[in-house]
This record gives sequence, C-alpha cells and structure tokens, in this order.
Amino acid sequence: MKTSILMVCLGNICRSPLAEGILKEKLPNNLFTVDSAGTAGFHIGRPPDPRSIDVAAQNGISIGHLKARKFTPADFRKFDKIYVMDRQNLSQVQSLAATPEEENKVTLLMESEEIPDPYYGGVEDFKTVFDLLNTACNARRDQLLKNLS
Ligand code: 4NP
Repeated sequence: MKTSILMVCLGNICRSPLAEGILKEKLPNNLFTVDSAGTAGFHIGRPPDPRSIDVAAQNGISIGHLKARKFTPADFRKFDKIYVMDRQNLSQVQSLAATPEEENKVTLLMESEEIPDPYYGGVEDFKTVFDLLNTACNARRDQLLKNLS
C-alpha cells in the first residue's frame, strides 16, 4: 500500500499545489501518492496561480495541469498524512476531524513555522514560498523514507 499525503492551504491555487509538485518530485511514486486541496472553495476547478506555475517551472516542476478542489472530511480516510501551510489551515482542517486519529493526521508542513500566504504579494513572495516549501519537503522526505524502513 502506498503512503498517501495531502497538502492543504486556503485556496489550493498558490501554496499547496506547489507543495504537491515539489514533494512528488522528491519521493518514489511507486511508494507514495501526493495530492492537494484547499479549505475554501473560491477557486474550485481552476489551475494554480500563474505565479506558482512560473516559479515551479523555473525549478523544473510542472504543476499547470492541477485543478483546485476543496478539502472534504472524506480526505481524512483517504490520506495517511495531511500537511497544512499555516495555523488557520490547521484549525480549519482539525475542526472537521471526527476522531482523535483523524485529528492526529494533521500537522503544519514546517513543524514550527508557517508558510505565508503569497496571494496578495508579488513574484518575490512566491520565490520565498518556493524556498520554504523546498526546505520543508526535504525534511518531510527524509522523515517519510526513514519511517518506511
Ligand atoms: P493559497 O493562496 O491558500 O496558497 O492557495 C490563496 C489563494 C486565494 C485566496 C487566498 C489565498 N483568496 O482569497 O482567493
């Protein structure tokens, strides 16, 4: 059975699709699946923000085919781990958990730091977010691979 991972932000167009693309590149796809979702439904069905698509492409990662969707309580059953970007995402997703086991699946992607929302920022903010996500995903990759053995 593959380990399934869900990245969650607010809109599912800036941070979490980028996080999905970055982590997917770092893990063997025969052992892991990576998806993303948003806590809000503003952008359902839309591709990622062009600034996320661009910063991903500059780093050799393709995310333009992704489509935004909203997090649902069924995701607690479908995914082994749910990584959220900030504390607002954390409380929103945890509030939908039906059991302590579901709640325990949810953690901040960066254990003690938030990935700031770049939506109202500029291209530089998307570069900062990319670097933070890349660092966070390296740490998660090491941890996930270690937990397999
Ligand atoms: P994300 O960024 O949560 O990283 O996808 C946002 C995208 C859209 C909005 C807010 C944050 N919005 O308010 O529409």
